[in-house]
Amino acid sequence: MNDQSPNSKSVLFVCLGNICRSPTGEAVLQHLVDEQNLADRIKIDSAGTAGYHIGKRADDRMRDHASRRGFDLQSRARQLMAADMEKFDLVIAMDRENYQNIERIHDRPTAELKMLSDFLGDDWPHDVPDPYYGGADGFEYVLDMIEAACPEIVKHMLAGEAS
Ligand code: 4NP
Repeated sequence: MNDQSPNSKSVLFVCLGNICRSPTGEAVLQHLVDEQNLADRIKIDSAGTAGYHIGKRADDRMRDHASRRGFDLQSRARQLMAADMEKFDLVIAMDRENYQNIERIHDRPTAELKMLSDFLGDDWPHDVPDPYYGGADGFEYVLDMIEAACPEIVKHMLAGEAS
């Protein structure tokens, strides 16, 4: 977080329930950051705009699909707080509804607010589709989008654009 080290940047992934998409963002980016020895420079967390699943581990289906690609989802769900919009340097919403809800919780956030698709080319959709009520393909697609975006998120954070 931005109060931990002057040389580190912090990012918070946000979805609705904090049990599918945003924990996957957290785990995939952490994996990349660890691989690149950047763990002291990039701090990562996730949260949900809703409080339905507070304290729960990520959805079993999401964890299963992620683990087949080598990602370990360790998070416990928590709800986004207004203070997060001052604590984090960068906040990444998974879809437009999340984005609008994030905007509503703080008048003057210091965090930079982005959509995950801002880190992807035009071939990708604007929203990371909510996989919760769907089948296996939906979970795979969440992973496809997030894996494609994470290298760009790292570049963005190291470029110092999120301040
Ligand atoms: P997430 O997925 O926002 O990616 O964590 C969902 C999880 C739970 C629900 C909806 C979406 N729900 O309605 O409980």
